[in-house]
Amino acid sequence: MKGLILSGGKGTRLRPLTFTQAKQLVPVANKPVLFYGIEALKEAGISDIGIIVGDTKDEIKQATGDGSRWDLNITYIEQEAPLGLAHAVKISEEFLKDEHFVMYLGDNILKSGITSLVEEFQQKKPNSLILLTEVPNPQMFGVAELEGGRVVRLVEKPKKPASNLALVGVYMFDAHIYEAVKAIKPSWRNELEITDAIQYLVEHGFEVQPHLVTGWWKDTGKLEDILEANRLILETLSGSNLGHVDDTSKINGQVVIEQGVSVKNSIIRGPVIIGENSEITDSYIGPFTSIQNNCKIILTEIEHSIVLEKSEIVEVGSRIDESLIGREVKIFKCPPKPSVYRFMVGDKSEIGIK
Ligand code: TTP
Repeated sequence: MKGLILSGGKGTRLRPLTFTQAKQLVPVANKPVLFYGIEALKEAGISDIGIIVGDTKDEIKQATGDGSRWDLNITYIEQEAPLGLAHAVKISEEFLKDEHFVMYLGDNILKSGITSLVEEFQQKKPNSLILLTEVPNPQMFGVAELEGGRVVRLVEKPKKPASNLALVGVYMFDAHIYEAVKAIKPSWRNELEITDAIQYLVEHGFEVQPHLVTGWWKDTGKLEDILEANRLILETLSGSNLGHVDDTSKINGQVVIEQGVSVKNSIIRGPVIIGENSEITDSYIGPFTSIQNNCKIILTEIEHSIVLEKSEIVEVGSRIDESLIGREVKIFKCPPKPSVYRFMVGDKSEIGIK
């Protein structure tokens, strides 16, 4: 069985970060989202993985490499434009050949991995197995309608959803999916929709089995979801200290302090991860915060947030909460006179002030 991870796309919902960075490389608990998917496939025994890449191909290839780090083979498949999930399958036929495969959206994380699902697919051998989960807002998702335990209809972002069962970003197929992706037409948003391809399978008598996911699942395409994924992953970490914490600092709960980190006169309340060579001075780092490598947090309070590498936050008057701060960002206190805010902020940035 092979794997196909989708790591192209536009990432419009994560601007401005995605103006300069692939959304699949945004770190959750200091590890790129994409690596959670690669590791889930590896754990399920899949060692031959194709990764779909688009405009951000160089960055993805550089961060991920040829797979040898995980003892896997990775092949990159270039998609000329984000023309849809089913389009990604269409251009991967040569790589996938007639093997069964798992398609995994590169910005998704599933708590319980996919090992048992791959086993179920290999045992029962349906033409497709799709993962579903109950959601409060099905209008925002691809939604499945079931009858007698079988999938009878799939609709992308329905205005009047027939169920609350949303498609999770992991799908399994046999080679009949190529017939479907070649037969369907682009949708109103000019994408070949995977829901239409699966609907084609249903209508042409192929067996599509549903599987309800019980553990949490996160699509990290939006800010709130990345922060939530960060919380959920941090909760599973156990603390360790490879850096230096001075006597006036206090560390509570599970805190991962990586090499070269210096913590001075600060309080860190886990779960928290502090990446290599970062400096925390006279500050409070609260629960569910990930600080990446080479950051400086000085005279600042921050929690429930992610700070990407080489950023500096110095003497911010109020506690920073629920924030995603990009790479090499500087947030600092202005001189007392005149009493002003001073910004140099990129397109589509969001700043909340009290
Ligand atoms: P989406 O999150 O649905 O699409 P997007 O990345 O364009 O994001 P946005 O809606 O914010 O603009 O895509 C899910 C995953 O699939 C994501 O990892 C990107 C990837 N993808 C491709 O590789 N090729 C495609 O043609 C599309 C549509 C998505």
